[in-house]
Amino acid sequence: MTVSRRVVEDPGALARAGADRILEAAREALSQRQSFSLVLSGGSTPKAIYEILGGSPDLLDWSRVEIFFGDERCVPPEHKDSNYRMAREALLDKIPIPKENVHRIRGEADPALAAREYEDLLLQKGLGAGKLFDLVLLGMGADGHTASLFPETPALAEETRWVVSNYVEKLGTNRVTLTARALLSARAIVFFIAGQDKADTLQAVLEGELRPKTYPSQLIFSSQAPIEILLDRAAAAKLSLV
Ligand code: 6PG
Repeated sequence: MTVSRRVVEDPGALARAGADRILEAAREALSQRQSFSLVLSGGSTPKAIYEILGGSPDLLDWSRVEIFFGDERCVPPEHKDSNYRMAREALLDKIPIPKENVHRIRGEADPALAAREYEDLLLQKGLGAGKLFDLVLLGMGADGHTASLFPETPALAEETRWVVSNYVEKLGTNRVTLTARALLSARAIVFFIAGQDKADTLQAVLEGELRPKTYPSQLIFSSQAPIEILLDRAAAAKLSLV
């Protein structure tokens, strides 16, 4: 696996480094291609990054950016748990991006239907026919989940679909999530991981044996795609190779 790591002091530094990394990837893509496709993650760490980007809306030609989501909770778009709502409030409402460039997962719909619709959209956009996302942003939960690929859930075994509805028993709910196959269809993948509560899991994920059913993030880390991890000192505390 080609995983590069960058450790920064704290969540604030992580947010600034994350925002810079996104801008760099966008500028590079836009110097070579017509548009830049970005897959957003939910969670608190990305939120701080989106707020920084939203605070300086002129740094990028947002009309050439296409936004996708890596996963969604099964709630309406105005719900406090909606990943779309978080991204809208932190970023999308603050930047001059055309509505049609933002592709949300319909969390309010039947989850299997929402997954099919989103998969159709990705296929229409050329994913699976050689097209790659330019940048996929991911977080990791303290249990090792990424996107809504939770430990011991059916979506982990999915090899053909790009988007699925995934029942997460410990949450008692469905999530709609891109599969590992879809997330790995990317020119670059960046994980943002902050906090002491992630340290043991991150060590097991990166330095332990391969057990992706227990640690779904390993489905991504064990790929051949170039992956970067931006992490803070607290999350890196247990790693021996930093
Ligand atoms: C979600 C996310 C999820 C998230 C991790 C880490 O919808 O919850 O997409 O995979 O990235 O749970 O979240 P934090 O950054 O908040 O720890």
